[in-house]
Amino acid sequence: MAATEIRKNIVSVGALDWDRRLFDELIPLPEGTSYNSYVVRGGEKTALIDTVDPSKTGELLENLQEAGVTRIDYIVSQHAEQDHSGSIPEVLEIYPRAVVVTNEKCKAMLMDLLLIPESKFKTVADGETLALGGRTLEFVFAPWVHWPETMLTYLREDKVLFSCDFLGAHLAQSRPLLSDENRTLQSAKRYFAEIMMPFRIPIRKHLEKLKTMEIDMIAPSHGVVYPRPALILDAYGEWVSDATRNLALIPFVSMHGSTREMVEHLTGALVRQGVEVMPFNLIHTDIGELAKELVDASTVVLASPTVLAGVHPVVAHAAFLANALRPKLKFASIIGSYGWGGKMVENLLASLGNLKVELLETVLAKGCPKESDFQALDRLAAAIAEKHRGIGVLP
Ligand code: FEO
Repeated sequence: MAATEIRKNIVSVGALDWDRRLFDELIPLPEGTSYNSYVVRGGEKTALIDTVDPSKTGELLENLQEAGVTRIDYIVSQHAEQDHSGSIPEVLEIYPRAVVVTNEKCKAMLMDLLLIPESKFKTVADGETLALGGRTLEFVFAPWVHWPETMLTYLREDKVLFSCDFLGAHLAQSRPLLSDENRTLQSAKRYFAEIMMPFRIPIRKHLEKLKTMEIDMIAPSHGVVYPRPALILDAYGEWVSDATRNLALIPFVSMHGSTREMVEHLTGALVRQGVEVMPFNLIHTDIGELAKELVDASTVVLASPTVLAGVHPVVAHAAFLANALRPKLKFASIIGSYGWGGKMVENLLASLGNLKVELLETVLAKGCPKESDFQALDRLAAAIAEKHRGIGVLP
């Protein structure tokens, strides 16, 4: 990515990672990602807000050169995770006068993770400011978006909020400014689901705090810059609320077709009941897409055959993730098939402890589903519709 001025004397110098397809060796990145880094020039001092993933250090250093940055006074490290902090040691080598500005918790992590000596740090408190000469950086602590040490940085005079991971998106786009609202929101929702959703309660508090600040622009450390902050702030307001919609998800695996037949029947029955439904064949599903739909679904029906005396491991993986992401689901059920017994239902129930859901009828077919099983699935669809009516998402 070339160095690009997003506001007068605020230059985006980060790196695009078009080809990265996995984050944390877990999260699929269908649209790549970016590691955003910003130079803020004041009348007397120059600050660099966050750096980039170590694999892209060369690109950051080239962009700093292209932007004519000959001196950096402050490297503001908002979050210790290496995709934003990993280049700090090399930037310190090239710009030896720079000090790393961060909070105590983040400093300790950076010393652990990157072996940066303590003498290179200047620590700040929540609400503390740093003068650049005609421009002021204010630090806003925002723990648990998604690590405990994360802070945001508010450039007071320009009303620009540098939000680090918070409000970001895994999206590689050549222009740093938002250009496609729908594409960006879909990407941001997926990112929220995968990274922020378990922390939606602390995030509510952070959003309330941001409402008290005048913000003209939000510049996250992944994805694009929002020149209209209400777009992403309003979306987050919905995502962290308790509101769900008239949507049932059916993540499933089928080995010989019995569970698939049950899923297809339940899908049709739910459609006839007026419930929006999304089956996900987990053998082909991008787990990030399932996570995105978990943000506001009301119901999940896990569907698995019985294998090795229990739940299919691919369904177990999806259930583990759904449980860890703590979506605001209201209702859940388990359906599937078995040959001679097993503990498929017990396995799944044991892995869903974080979900505050009401469990609905379980439907298990011995071998291929029979008429009585289809009738049970029809009853389950009717029960889901009734529950959705009960919470006001289905008329
Ligand atoms: Fe983008 Fe938590 O690092």
